[in-house]
Amino acid sequence: MSPFRITRILPEDATDAALRADVLAGLTATPRTLPPKWFYDARGSELFEQITRLPEYYPTRAEREILSERAGEIAAAAGARTLVELGSGSSEKTRHLLDAMTSLRAYVPVDVSESALVGAGEALAAERADLQVHALIADFTAALELPGTPGPRLVAFLGGTVGNLLPDERAAFLASVRSMLEPGDTLLLGTDLVKDEEVLVRAYDDASGVTAAFDKNVLAVINRELGADFDPEAFEHVAVWDAGREWIEMRLRSRTAQTVKVQALDLVVEFAAGEEIRTEVSAKFRAERVRAELAAAGLEPVRWWTDAGGRFALSLSTPG
Ligand code: SAH
Ligand code: AVI
Repeated sequence: MSPFRITRILPEDATDAALRADVLAGLTATPRTLPPKWFYDARGSELFEQITRLPEYYPTRAEREILSERAGEIAAAAGARTLVELGSGSSEKTRHLLDAMTSLRAYVPVDVSESALVGAGEALAAERADLQVHALIADFTAALELPGTPGPRLVAFLGGTVGNLLPDERAAFLASVRSMLEPGDTLLLGTDLVKDEEVLVRAYDDASGVTAAFDKNVLAVINRELGADFDPEAFEHVAVWDAGREWIEMRLRSRTAQTVKVQALDLVVEFAAGEEIRTEVSAKFRAERVRAELAAAGLEPVRWWTDAGGRFALSLSTPG
């Protein structure tokens, strides 16, 4: 068994303060919003894993198809000795990369979900005696100080999670990733592609209601952490395609007029019947937009792969 280290970058009270600030700002804004990173407590991370196995949710299968076919090419092009993975979750698809990267010495998964990091990190450390696994409990949108593992580094950001950032957040995030890269380092970015509205809406509003439970989990997190009295059943999960902005929006729609109290914030929120909270955007990309956003951040895409169905893309970039 190789050593498994886990480091909390942000102290727990910082997480608590960030949740309070986000909930206060989001629930008093018009329209109301909540940032998607708060979905991922232990139950939210488990619900996300269930989503990845749904027949309607194609992105995980499409990205896995690319990784299983192209891991050798990606590993050869990156030539990395450290793999840093942002928003690593269960690290399940990452195993294709880990197996193909023959010079790999260290794996640094970064996630806000401690339960996901512990589950994935302990399993990997037990299997891979040759690999140093150093997990970071951290927010990838904040400046990251990486452990001093050997370079070059491949920074992977899979799953299309970059699409959960709003355009200005995405620009700032890509610029901060660029500033982390040294000559010889690379970025592997997963982006979900624009496709038929019907396929997209079904992927975010599945027949078995798993995505609805995932969406409502943010209310359970706020109830538990901030002493709120949201009744998740009093909200309906909605997925809407915004054709202009080319993103899916998940929303929670109040079924009736209702009052919700958030004790820790001394906040009372009045919802009108039908009023919505936007809980996530999931942007879908075209190749030109990926290239333009990378270039704006000072990154140069050198490789581009898609699955056979053209549903999802992986790009490999170097610091330009
Ligand atoms: N990469 C995995 C998991 C995607 S789910 C896959 O492709 O299947 C998104 C992951 O990002 C979750 O594990 C969630 O906890 C994490 N996450 C979301 N926002 C984050 C943030 N701001 N900082 C760090 N991790 C975040
Ligand atoms: C993590 N992220 C890429 C997922 C997505 O598809 O935007 C989160 C998700 N939301 C609903 N289903 C899955």
